Amino acid sequence: MALDLVIRGGTLATAERTFRADVGIEGERIAALGEGLSAMRVIDASGKLVLPGGVDSHCHIEQLSSMGVMTADDFYSATVSAAYGGTTTVIPFCAQHRSDDLRKVLADYHERARTKAVIDYGFHLIIANPDGPTLREHLPAAIGSGIRSLKIFMTYERTRLTDEQILDVMAAARRHGALVMVHAENHGVISWLAGRMVKQGNTLPRYHGICHTRGAETEAIQRVVALAELVDCPILIVHVSTGDGIEAIRQARARGLKVFGETCPQYLLLTAKDIDIGMQGAFFCCSPPPRDEQAQEACWRGLKDGTLHVYSSDHAPYGREGKLPKGESTTFKEMANGVPGLELRLPLLYTYGVGAKRISLPEFVNLTATRHAQTYGLYPRKGVIAVGSDADIAIWDPQKSVVVEQTHDRTGYTPYRGRRLQGWPVTVLSRGEMIVEDGKLAAARGRGQFLAREPSEALRPLGRDVPEMAQLKAWETPLQL
Ligand code: URP
Ligand code: ZN
Ligand code: ZN
Repeated sequence: MALDLVIRGGTLATAERTFRADVGIEGERIAALGEGLSAMRVIDASGKLVLPGGVDSHCHIEQLSSMGVMTADDFYSATVSAAYGGTTTVIPFCAQHRSDDLRKVLADYHERARTKAVIDYGFHLIIANPDGPTLREHLPAAIGSGIRSLKIFMTYERTRLTDEQILDVMAAARRHGALVMVHAENHGVISWLAGRMVKQGNTLPRYHGICHTRGAETEAIQRVVALAELVDCPILIVHVSTGDGIEAIRQARARGLKVFGETCPQYLLLTAKDIDIGMQGAFFCCSPPPRDEQAQEACWRGLKDGTLHVYSSDHAPYGREGKLPKGESTTFKEMANGVPGLELRLPLLYTYGVGAKRISLPEFVNLTATRHAQTYGLYPRKGVIAVGSDADIAIWDPQKSVVVEQTHDRTGYTPYRGRRLQGWPVTVLSRGEMIVEDGKLAAARGRGQFLAREPSEALRPLGRDVPEMAQLKAWETPLQL
């Protein structure tokens, strides 16, 4: 077999095991795994870990937020930052706002990404305008084009849906074969509290955390689970931050429901104390907010026992203009929500998870790559080192120690500044091409490709009989997957 490139002598990991092997690459794919492979080009990986490139299934890139603020990153800066951190696939959001035509929104996002992305990408939709044309025509067409997931919001004035609209979207997603991702926070609780806080002059960033109560998350998760159960629609609750929220997912799963969970670095590593530092706390504000040490432990447990299915960044990059648009007089209601995380997602989990012996290396691979690819219809093309898969590979130096300073995104800060991380992806390949070589970028703008995704097992409805639904004449039959 004529191989173009061999990665020689490293320790490989999949979601199941670690083992010693060379990786043989032909063109864009992995062509062989074994001992003693040879080719004209060889990368010496002795003493290194050879892992699947990360798949980040929750990030916001060149997107208008739910509050109408544009992210600091475009598809170039975000994907460069991802590549530096060992991530080779992203699935950002294509966001429909209230009066938007989904077809136009989708065409715009394709155009933005096509000319800039340096790694491969898919899209999730955000549905904020579930009117007749969207649900009957535009959404099915988008799903058919390989966009097999969509996000709905239960909070934020400009994007939230009513329970009736959520049921409409779930019914359409079930019928046409898309996974529904949910931002689950009770809007009434947050806006009622926030209105009163601002009136009495409590406007510092710390009040953002106080208004986004733990109970607001738990209630919304329980409610959306009930909605999903009624219409037999699998759901994935994104950015879960509380022990009670995780417990609600655990209970739903124990009843056999297809309810998946996701958490992010900020819920494992930050707390409300990070926000409680005056106006600079704005740079740590995200929704839901980081909580306390107990909640962090609950998130680690949830990842370990599988209640939390994937670990994503929720990269929502905003610089000073987004975070403090009115300078020191900005209220917490006016700050853009979100923190950057694309680049450090993997190194943080490696240090605080694998290094601290909270999770094993195969669990790390599963949580950062394999499960994302499986859940979102990219497996086995992405998320695994196997013969036939895309040669998306990160070579890690477990001895490399890095004190975090600045990352390569355009926010100008990182919430993890000053932390010492042990273990770093030094060389990164995307479809067989070296895009980071010994810590230096080697990727051309626009080389990333759009990934049309397949329907995955995760989005297949249970097919349970729901007696109430049997009374409905026009109840939809799910797509036969
Ligand atoms: O605060 C956050 N998480 N901002 C990004 C948008 C979202 O809700 O995921
Ligand atoms: Zn969200
Ligand atoms: Zn998000």
